[in-house]
Amino acid sequence: MFNWRKVTGWLLLVLSTAAIAEQYNLGKPASEKVIAGWDIDVRPDGLGLPKGSGSVEEGEALYDQKCANCHGSFGEGEGRWPKLAGGEDTLRDERPEKTVGSYWPYASTLWDYIHRAMPFNAPQSLATDEVYAITAYVLNLNELVDGEFVLTQDNLATIEMPNKNGFYVDNRPDVANPRCMKNCKDPESIKVIATIAGITPTDHFKHDGNDGVAYQESAVGVTATPEVVKTYQNACKMCHDTGLNDAPKTGDVAAWQKRLNQGKPAIYNNALKGINGMPAKGGRTDLSDEMVKSIVDYMLELSE
Ligand code: HEC
Ligand code: HEC
Repeated sequence: MFNWRKVTGWLLLVLSTAAIAEQYNLGKPASEKVIAGWDIDVRPDGLGLPKGSGSVEEGEALYDQKCANCHGSFGEGEGRWPKLAGGEDTLRDERPEKTVGSYWPYASTLWDYIHRAMPFNAPQSLATDEVYAITAYVLNLNELVDGEFVLTQDNLATIEMPNKNGFYVDNRPDVANPRCMKNCKDPESIKVIATIAGITPTDHFKHDGNDGVAYQESAVGVTATPEVVKTYQNACKMCHDTGLNDAPKTGDVAAWQKRLNQGKPAIYNNALKGINGMPAKGGRTDLSDEMVKSIVDYMLELSE
C-alpha cells in the first residue's frame, strides 16, 4: 500500500538532512590541505619530517619558557608531571623509570609527540624549527647529543636511542593462539580474575571460589582475607586505584611512604574519620572500624 504519510516523512527527513549537511559543510570530500592537517606522523626513519632545524642552545631557551614549569629545568619533572630525562638502567628494576632517554626506542617519537601534543596547554602551537630545537634540547638533557648539536630533518633518524633493542615483536607462543570460530567455550564459564593494579600476574592470586574476586597469596607477603580484598574493591578502589582527587594510589610506594611518616595510628584515624578528599571510611559508614583498618593494612602492604 502506498502510504503518503510515510513518503512525506522520508522526504522531509532527506530534505532536512541535506539542509543540515549544507549548513555545516558536511559531506564534502576532504581536500589535500585538510588531510595534510591530520597526516603529521613521523616515522623512525624520518619519513614525515618537515624541512627544518634547531640547536640545543635555541632549544634550551624555548624549553625554559614553555616546558620547564611542568617537566622541570632538567627534565626531572615538577611535582607529579612526567619526567623527560634520567632513569638509565632502571628498566629491569621493580619500579622502572621510563623516560625519553631510558625507554623510548626512537627519537622520531619525541619530535612527533612534542609537535603533536606539547605544550600540554597549547598543543600544536610550536613552529617547526622550535620543535627541532626543543627536541634537540630534550635529547641533550638525556645526554644523547652534545651542547653544540643542531637537529635537522636529515640527522634525526641517525640518533641511536639506548633502549632501541628493548622493543621487539612479541613471540611468546600464547599470543599466537588461533581465534575460536566454532564449538567455543561458553563465555559464561570463563572467569576473568581481576588483580589490584591490573598488572600483577594472575598466578600470584588464588580464586576464592565463588564470585570472581581474587586474593593474593603469600607470594608477595600479603595477608589480607578475601573479604578485605573484596571490600577494598567495592569501597576504596574507585579512588585509590586511579588516584582520583589526588588519593594516594595503592602500590605507589613514594606516596604512601610520605604518609607513613605520620605513623600508622594517624593513618588509621584519617581513614576512619576522613581527611580532605577522603570521606570518613571512604563514605562507607556501614563498615566496621576493624574492617577499615584491615583494608588500610592491605593497601599499605601493596605499597611497600
Ligand atoms: C602544563 C604542563 C605541561 C607543559 C607546559 C608541558 N607538558 Fe609535556 N606533558 C605534560 C603531561 C600532563 C604529559 C603526559 C600526557 C599524557 O600522558 O597524556 C606530558 C608528556 C610529555 C612527554 C611524554 C613523556 C612520556 O614519557 O610519556 C613529552 C616528551 C613532553 N611532555 C614534552 C614537553 C615539551 C617539550 C614541552 C614544552 C614545549 C612540554 N612537554 C610542556 C604536561 C606538560
Ligand atoms: C571518594 C574517593 C575515596 C574513596 C572512596 C576512598 N578514599 Fe581514601 N583517600 C581519598 C583521598 C582524596 C585521599 C587523600 C586525602 C588527603 O590526604 O588529602 C585519601 C587518603 C586515604 C588514606 C591516607 C590517609 C593519611 O593519613 O594520609 C587512607 C589510609 C585511605 N584513604 C584509606 C581508604 C580506605 C580504606 C577506603 C575504603 C574503605 C578509602 N580510602 C576510600 C579518597 C578516597
